[in-house]
Amino acid sequence: MQRYKDPEAKDKMNPFAEQEAWEDHQIGKSKLQFGSKDRKRSSDDYQYVFEDSIDFVKSSVIEGTQPEGDSDQEDIDAKDILKRELQDERKTLPIYKFRDELLKAVEEYQVIVIVGETGSGKTTQIPQYLHEAGYTAKGKVACTQPRRVAAMSVAARVSQEMGVKLGHEVGYSIRFEDCTSEKTIIKYMTDGMLLREFLGEPDLASYSVVMVDEAHERTLSTDILFGLVKDISRFRPDLKLLISSATLDAEKFSDYFDSAPIFKIPGRRYPVEIHYTKAPEADYIDAAIVTVLQIHVTQPPGDILVFLTGQEEIETVDEILKHRTRGLGTKISELIICPIYANLPTELQAKIFEPTPEGARKVVLATNIAETSLTIDGIKYVIDPGFCKIKSYNPRTGMESLLINPISKASANQRAGRSGRTGPGKCFRLYTSYNYMHDLEDNTVPEIQRTNLANVVLTLKSLGIHDLVNFDFMDPPPSEALLKALEQLFALSALNSRGELTKTGRRMAEFPLDPMLSKMIVASEKYKCSDEVISIASMLSIGNSIFYRPKDKQVHADNARLNFHTGNVGDHIALLNVYNSWKETDYSTQWCYENYIQVRSMKRARDIRDQLEGLMERVEIEICSNASDLDAIKKAITSGFFHHSARLQRDGTYKTVKNPQTVHIHPSSGLAEIRPRWVVYHELVLTTKEFMRQVTELKPEWLVEIAPHYYQLKDVDDSGTKKLPKGQGRAAL
Ligand code: CDP
Ligand code: MG
Repeated sequence: MQRYKDPEAKDKMNPFAEQEAWEDHQIGKSKLQFGSKDRKRSSDDYQYVFEDSIDFVKSSVIEGTQPEGDSDQEDIDAKDILKRELQDERKTLPIYKFRDELLKAVEEYQVIVIVGETGSGKTTQIPQYLHEAGYTAKGKVACTQPRRVAAMSVAARVSQEMGVKLGHEVGYSIRFEDCTSEKTIIKYMTDGMLLREFLGEPDLASYSVVMVDEAHERTLSTDILFGLVKDISRFRPDLKLLISSATLDAEKFSDYFDSAPIFKIPGRRYPVEIHYTKAPEADYIDAAIVTVLQIHVTQPPGDILVFLTGQEEIETVDEILKHRTRGLGTKISELIICPIYANLPTELQAKIFEPTPEGARKVVLATNIAETSLTIDGIKYVIDPGFCKIKSYNPRTGMESLLINPISKASANQRAGRSGRTGPGKCFRLYTSYNYMHDLEDNTVPEIQRTNLANVVLTLKSLGIHDLVNFDFMDPPPSEALLKALEQLFALSALNSRGELTKTGRRMAEFPLDPMLSKMIVASEKYKCSDEVISIASMLSIGNSIFYRPKDKQVHADNARLNFHTGNVGDHIALLNVYNSWKETDYSTQWCYENYIQVRSMKRARDIRDQLEGLMERVEIEICSNASDLDAIKKAITSGFFHHSARLQRDGTYKTVKNPQTVHIHPSSGLAEIRPRWVVYHELVLTTKEFMRQVTELKPEWLVEIAPHYYQLKDVDDSGTKKLPKGQGRAAL
């Protein structure tokens, strides 16, 4: 059984997958044990699956409301048949029976809270009902989503149902991507984008209805939207407000919106059997894979949904599953693997909604997005490892990190419910019932209480809302976090000492970016390097997916990458070098391929850059280039990121300058070996250690020069670290 013995096999299968040496740091908690187990198997492939099987105990059944009818999904080909079919399908959704009643309620009340099981048709149908009832004649219908993928995919679906081209009557708007036109009457958008629309149109005059969807998710932007839409509804009696949620704690929303009526759409849920593992699983990735295979060979037809925490995990599971099923050959029926996560390219997103062919089984590998935002028909089995990525913020140190955390009981129940939409389902929890009972919190803490608020505070200030302490929050953020945000914006010169927006702050607010990035851009005017700085900002906005490093070509990939670092210029300038070199080749795909760079990421960077260029015009900053003066570029970076400065210690680690914390240069950085004495970094990622990602050397005197309110001379006094004799300040340069 050669195929099981080769632990490297998964990488060979996909040589261009982003497979990096620092994988351990990235994957964090989930330990990959691929290939590390005893792979001596009997010749019977089925046996292999069973030997690895996980022992589940059936613990309980969540009883659902019995259905009143069901719909069969048929193979659809021709376009007009498709539309007719879709119209029929619309009528089978649970919400359809309540269409007229719902419209009557909207007519009668200004604000309504709508509660309905996921998949009942809230997101796709309500905006269409409103359109059919004539609301779009008075203004657009907005429907907000916490996730970009949901906004895009729902808009695509609704445009199909209405038989119109996406971007015409039905469109979507997400950060850096506006797929709408003059014609657009139904607009799906992220909650963050609607928040930004307030800046240009404080009374949302062009809208007749705002539907804040997925309200139960309580994202930061949704929570802020609550306060804003509640406020404008008072002086815009013609504006209708719908707050829709998948969970039953609607009273809280109703109370907040002055006792708004609650409209319940009775669910259509079949009973779901819950199975727990007998003992805790040490490696949930491995357990999830084994469970998928176990279901595939032992359970009747029905698709599988696996909840994972992020793109890296999804890609890992995808590869291992492909490898293992290939190993089983024709002995098992086809397993179609469909990943879905935020950055999945648009053209691949539609795949998860394609009906599963007869005889095959689909396994959807999803992030939390499939918990309530997206409904995939045909799911009968849910695998729930019990984790998700959660942002947490320490207002004392100002540090924000994305960590893999246990989910809440509410989430676990939502996940389980996804298996019981079209028939009785089964949910396999990769944890024990004891874990469920005793270790999981009841609900997830709203994001507003665990995040950096600088961005929101800047937005609110630019909307003219000064008294943040008395802002009508549904759940107020910790006052410490508010204070920290004000302090940070003051240090960035976005606010003056009275807490009022400065000219710099007003310009910064125009950019849909974190305040530190927007400050870096605004500061580039002073250093006459705006051309370079917006390229850097665009590249930073792409995140961590520019370079790839196939395992069998690591040396080549590393060399290619190091070329951009010539002269130890630091990671920011290296990103600039990548962008400029690509531009010089006239944006060549071949060039990306030769340099181990992901062309898709580069194209996205170019789009973002185009938009930033447009915004520069709006804030009247001229685009000018100063490519030879690297110090000028670094000073512009430092102007935005001076909070993120760190100093080398004797032991080779770094300490952040304010609120001292031990940190390390991420191994992917061009400066990881160089270790300059003083650095500025883009972000911290906590995995096995606190790592600084995207690092550039700085001169300590810049800190005092650039941020005199924040740094005093004593902060940058080098005499305490008498590491090397004078004149040899830098460790290795
Ligand atoms: O918002 P809610 O969870 O109540 O339901 P929905 O998202 O409006 O979904 C209603 C139906 O549309 C479900 O059967 C989905 O499977 C289907 N749908 C789809 O086929 N493709 C999409 N992109 C979105 C929804
Ligand atoms: Mg929905």
